[in-house]
Amino acid sequence: MGSHNKDMEHTKLGRTSRRTWLVAIGMAVGAASVLRAVHLYLQPTAPAHGHSVDLGPLDAIVQDGQRKVVSIEGMNVLIARTGLSAVALDLTCTHAGCPLHVREDAKRILCSCHGGAFDLDGQPVKAPPTKPLRVLQTQVIHGSLFLRIPARGSA
Ligand code: FES
Repeated sequence: MGSHNKDMEHTKLGRTSRRTWLVAIGMAVGAASVLRAVHLYLQPTAPAHGHSVDLGPLDAIVQDGQRKVVSIEGMNVLIARTGLSAVALDLTCTHAGCPLHVREDAKRILCSCHGGAFDLDGQPVKAPPTKPLRVLQTQVIHGSLFLRIPARGSA
């Protein structure tokens, strides 16, 4: 009888132990899923969605009513400031991807590859380009200009 009770205790302990392990594994898998979801939620700047770059104080970049070309991560961007907001144009030609040159005096953005041209708002004014320049999202936070760099290959 005593031996039978010990066997039952042993079996009971074994079941409890297995159940405890299964619960622990289930909790670990669940926790990993939750952590992954939280990570994705907190990482809106993951490469698939692009990322934000802090360019520093807006006043140090460009004065109100002015334009300036800045180079960020190998990309030239025309920043046009109005008050405390800024518009950013990707200076990559929408015809075949050549780099563009800003000619403020002529109020044009020129492409030397095939002679295309855009106005200073990024609208095409001379073929072959037909699509406007890509506008990059900007935000001014506490006086600093943040620029959203889209993921490679995104429009
Ligand atoms: S790449 Fe600019 S006009 Fe062709």
